[in-house]
Amino acid sequence: MTIKSNLRKISAELSNMMKCFYIFKDRPSRSQRERRSADSAPELRNQRDTSSSSSTKPSRPTRSTGSSSLPRSIPELFKEKEQNLRAFSLLELKEATKNFNKLLKLGEGGFGSVYKGHLKPPDGSDPVVVAIKKLNIYGLQGHKEWVSEVQLLGAVEHPNLVKLLGYCAVDGERGIQRLLVYEYMPNKSLDDHLFNKSVPAIPWRTRLNIILGAAQGMAYLHDGLAFEVIYRDFKSSNVLLDKDFHPKISDFGLAREGPVEGKSHVSTAPVGTYGYAAPEYVSEGHLSTRSDIYSFGVVLYEILTGRKALERNRPAAEQKLLEWVKRFPVDSNKFSMIIDPRLRNEYSLNAARRIAKLADRCLNRNARERPTIAEVVEVLQQAIQESVEESSRATSIESPSSRTNPSVRNREISKMAIPGARRMSNAAQASSTKLTTRTYIS
Ligand SMILES: Nc1ncnc2c1ncn2[C@@H]1O[C@H](COP(=O)(O)OP(=O)(O)OP(=O)(O)O)[C@@H](O)[C@H]1O
Ligand SMILES: [Mg+2]
Repeated sequence: MTIKSNLRKISAELSNMMKCFYIFKDRPSRSQRERRSADSAPELRNQRDTSSSSSTKPSRPTRSTGSSSLPRSIPELFKEKEQNLRAFSLLELKEATKNFNKLLKLGEGGFGSVYKGHLKPPDGSDPVVVAIKKLNIYGLQGHKEWVSEVQLLGAVEHPNLVKLLGYCAVDGERGIQRLLVYEYMPNKSLDDHLFNKSVPAIPWRTRLNIILGAAQGMAYLHDGLAFEVIYRDFKSSNVLLDKDFHPKISDFGLAREGPVEGKSHVSTAPVGTYGYAAPEYVSEGHLSTRSDIYSFGVVLYEILTGRKALERNRPAAEQKLLEWVKRFPVDSNKFSMIIDPRLRNEYSLNAARRIAKLADRCLNRNARERPTIAEVVEVLQQAIQESVEESSRATSIESPSSRTNPSVRNREISKMAIPGARRMSNAAQASSTKLTTRTYIS
């Protein structure tokens, strides 16, 4: 088969898959879903919209620019933009990765293995470095997640969402092959830097910029499109970092559209990652943008503490991050004990407190009480501002040596910001190992 006819076949296949997506999405039907949602919850969205800053976010029909032709669903938007994606042949991707050579493997997750690859552009210019994710057909994800990812990432565009360059789909005698080709992110994921002690720790301000960028990416998904997108798998391993530590959210295989107007949530079988999923989602399958906010709260505590949501190699009382941090309330003198020792006291205690308070709001068991992503962005901007102002106050009274030596200056800033914070618990300094990745709840 020629490359051209192969590409035609893949393109046709993707169109069929789009139909599959519709069928999948429509079963149960929209009216059934509405009925189910109505049965299980009151009209939370309307209540919330009138009382919070999320009221700036109109419900779906009024979110448009007035054009009735504005795409109102992921597949509709994908149809408009699919020509931006390239359909790769398997041969091209094999060549790019030296036949999926182990030495080029970047890591492995719930979908499959990720390889670094070099793609030769047809015009003969320098090879483009990419990351290629290859479905593990014996794994927990499959065609459905692949379609979701292609459709969503093919449709959206934001500086804080990873860029999908193309895909590959082959149905052979030995089963299906599904691959995804992304821009390469040289600094891997946030969790590598927070929890892997062999990688240098990320400084305070970089952490704040990373989490703000991630929040802005999430704000685009929740509020920036004509329809609401629930991301469903927010965690530090899904925040990738480019060469400048600019964050981009990745992994959209579990993302789905939000509820129809006036409904608080969609009902679905819970999938996701233990330690990050919201309680109402785990126990009742109630999914909403507020479930993403809960996961965001978990990652806020990870950023502050340098500890992973779940660490089974710690003493029992410290394995669950959210339970452990409760012992160090945000307004108590003990609060600074939770801050990541790898920050070496170089952070603003006021900003850290602000972020912990935000995290506590995100982690409210009552989904309606959690902040919107717009509020999260706002508080994070304030925390950054606070850190900057504290640094400049410290600089204005700095010693001559600190004016020229940044590490002396940082020490002086931290002395001002957190008196007594050096009394860090030994346990907080103990190393953590990376847990196995995605655990499906269902
Ligand atoms: N575009 C990319 N550029 C560079 N590295 C990447 C890219 N995408 C993923 N990786 C790396 O590949 C590894 C596996 O990623 P993957 O998303 O498959 O798994 P995960 O996030 O650990 O788990 P999960 O499947 O639950 O999301 C991670 O360590 C990540 O840092
Ligand atoms: Mg991932």
